[in-house]
Amino acid sequence: MSVSRRGFLAGLAIAPVAVGCARRAVATGPRALPIPPLAESVVGADGVRRFQLTMQVGNTEILAGKRTPTWGIDGPYLGPTLRARRGETVAVRVRNELPEPSTLHWHGMRVPARMDGGPHQTIAVGGEWTPTWTVAQQAATLWYHPHPHGGTEKHVYRGLAGFFLLDDDVADTLALPNDYGVDDIPLVIQDRRFRADGGLDESDPTDVGLLGDTIVTNGIAGAYFRARTSRIRLRLLNGSSGRLYHLGFADNREFQLIGGDGGLLPRPVALIRIQLSPGERAEIVVPIQPDDRVMLRALPIEQRGELDADRAREFGFDDTFDILELRGAKEPRSSAVVPDALVPMTPVPAAAALARRHFDLQWFQINRQRMDMNRIDFTVTPDSVEVWTVRNADDWPHNFHIHDVQFQVTEIDGAAPPSELAGWKDTVYTRPGSSYTLAMRFGAHTDPTYPYMFHCHLLLHEDHGMMGQFLALAPGQTPAPMSMSHG
Ligand code: C2O
Ligand code: CU
Ligand code: CU
Repeated sequence: MSVSRRGFLAGLAIAPVAVGCARRAVATGPRALPIPPLAESVVGADGVRRFQLTMQVGNTEILAGKRTPTWGIDGPYLGPTLRARRGETVAVRVRNELPEPSTLHWHGMRVPARMDGGPHQTIAVGGEWTPTWTVAQQAATLWYHPHPHGGTEKHVYRGLAGFFLLDDDVADTLALPNDYGVDDIPLVIQDRRFRADGGLDESDPTDVGLLGDTIVTNGIAGAYFRARTSRIRLRLLNGSSGRLYHLGFADNREFQLIGGDGGLLPRPVALIRIQLSPGERAEIVVPIQPDDRVMLRALPIEQRGELDADRAREFGFDDTFDILELRGAKEPRSSAVVPDALVPMTPVPAAAALARRHFDLQWFQINRQRMDMNRIDFTVTPDSVEVWTVRNADDWPHNFHIHDVQFQVTEIDGAAPPSELAGWKDTVYTRPGSSYTLAMRFGAHTDPTYPYMFHCHLLLHEDHGMMGQFLALAPGQTPAPMSMSHG
């Protein structure tokens, strides 16, 4: 793998300015997109792949020539990309060198509840936590981020997030761009607001959270990526607090959607736009011409439902942003055509559902309740199928994320979903006024004490209590009393 651990953002961290030095030279023009380094890991004699991560504070040159105090993992902003294969057992030692307690959650991963890194797995200041689990799901673009009770938005906003890529034998046989950092590019899209002194502005959240006026891709504003091949794969992640992105290219070129939250789709879907709400991922393959220059843009959000025009403006739905400029090589290396068939998908047998549940999303609440660390909302049976209907009963945008499972969206307001929602999902946008039916099969893990979360992934909403908890219990198992200290 060609990307060194030291390379990422290290060059962007600003050295103290020497006394007498009037001002730093201000960098101008776009800068090359930083690629998060691959996290180093060691496979022991026991076969376990061990990673080590440190959550820490630092300074980052997000804006050219400006110093921004930030938080990061093994660096000043964002974190390295973890990578593991299906079937492997991984262990991640996470050290917290932040000034506040935090957690680290493996978003999209099937994990035992006590390894999930949700609000019950607090890592104290100066403390360590070493979750371990066996990867039991298909190749996918997952991510990790903090999940402290009531504090997720700020911890993510300050810079804590990273990719966790899963590989498997099936994905390996497909002719898809897979040279990390060369034609297979992780791209986390975030919006941030800066104070005059360069610090991140955490004031005045809207009702969907902190919205920025500056787009930050992989940790910098104003990035370009120079492609060397005739097709590139972008692993897109909406890592923002509350902003939705409706993405497309300035010249309306077609791209192939090849994957969603939980892995590759059954077949590629040709699109010119793709929408991502906070937490969602999409993998796309984009054709690049010789000497190309094309801008990936965020365009106004079209899926508004019952959102009124003033609120739409306030929530950033009318905004347009440049995200990333793609530049082509003079003589690009030719890439394989995207295969017509990717990864077969068996429908979840919804008719066999053991439980059907309904969730109403409205005003920081799910089913008229706000999150309580000591309340278990329901229990699920391992390996069982369930069908959940999630209704956005609000005139605000929300989305819905479930820990531990990947689900299929089977209906939207009683109709079949569009083809871009054909794959496995762990997070789905819920348009104001609409209902989404989700079919899922739970995993084998059980735990009488530690729950999994389900919540709106607009981080302010999550922090304000738009979240609930469920336990996975074996038949006959009873919940253990949970008295949570989460400090
Ligand atoms: Cu990405 Cu419960 O979170
Ligand atoms: Cu999650
Ligand atoms: Cu919400």
